[in-house]
Amino acid sequence: MPVEMERHDRVAVLTLNRPDVMNALSPDMIDDLEFLLDQIERRTELRCVVLTGAGDRAFTAGADIRHMREASPLQARAYARRGHDVTGRIESFPKPVIAAVNGYALGGGCELSLACDIRLASERARFGLPEVNLGILPGWGGTQRMARATSPGFAKEMIFTGRQVDAAEAHVAGLVNHVYPHDELMPRAMELAEEIASKPPWALSAAKEVVNLALDGDLSGHLARELDAFALAFTTEDQREGMAAFFEKREARFQGR
Ligand code: COA
Repeated sequence: MPVEMERHDRVAVLTLNRPDVMNALSPDMIDDLEFLLDQIERRTELRCVVLTGAGDRAFTAGADIRHMREASPLQARAYARRGHDVTGRIESFPKPVIAAVNGYALGGGCELSLACDIRLASERARFGLPEVNLGILPGWGGTQRMARATSPGFAKEMIFTGRQVDAAEAHVAGLVNHVYPHDELMPRAMELAEEIASKPPWALSAAKEVVNLALDGDLSGHLARELDAFALAFTTEDQREGMAAFFEKREARFQGR
């Protein structure tokens, strides 16, 4: 399975499991994640979710670039829509979701972590929204959720430059709650999840819903704008060049068309 689920008492651990491609999020993986979330929602004994990545290197390196490289604007929009669906599902999931970020959280991977309620990072975690290097822009909610989780200035610097930040910088920016030595990440995530799981589930779910409203504004309207802008990027030659350069492992040459 591209996503594994393990149960530890009242906590469900979901592991993104394609380590050979840095757990890049294929359409199958998104389907799997949604399927497992549906199961967790129905099982009342499960009270909290921990989301992490398989292997030692990545939480997830984002949307699968292979599925986007030759995409038409409509196909790109449909793929971004799947990203919006799964991030929206996590954000409005009636049980708390903790991201245990064990390595790279790039692009859609960073955006997936942003949809979680709490982010914990290992010292090896690296966050980034590198879409600009591919000739596109974040399309899984990152334009909205990064600015909300940190600040518009920090979000714009990350989105405009595509640079990665390490766990310490992410912590200072408010992107993660805590940073732990790599081997302590999962034990500490489980400890927090178990503590949360011992609380009354209705109060947790109501609190999550209301805290989410604190920054709501017109989130769904703004996300719709993001979806269209993302699709439009696939009308440009720069998108083809950016993604070709990624697979050819070279610097992209953007022409502005
Ligand atoms: N989609 C598809 N494949 C991906 C991927 C992605 N998002 N991220 C990594 N991979 C694949 C690579 O193509 C490579 O496959 P290969 O072994 O067949 O060549 C494999 O995963 C390992 O990645 P590689 O780039 O060789 O490892 P690295 O250690 O040099 O770099 C990263 C690691 C994460 C920094 C780099 O893979 C990267 O920048 N990934 C893309 C991140 C990104 O732009 N995400 C946004 C998508 S919208």
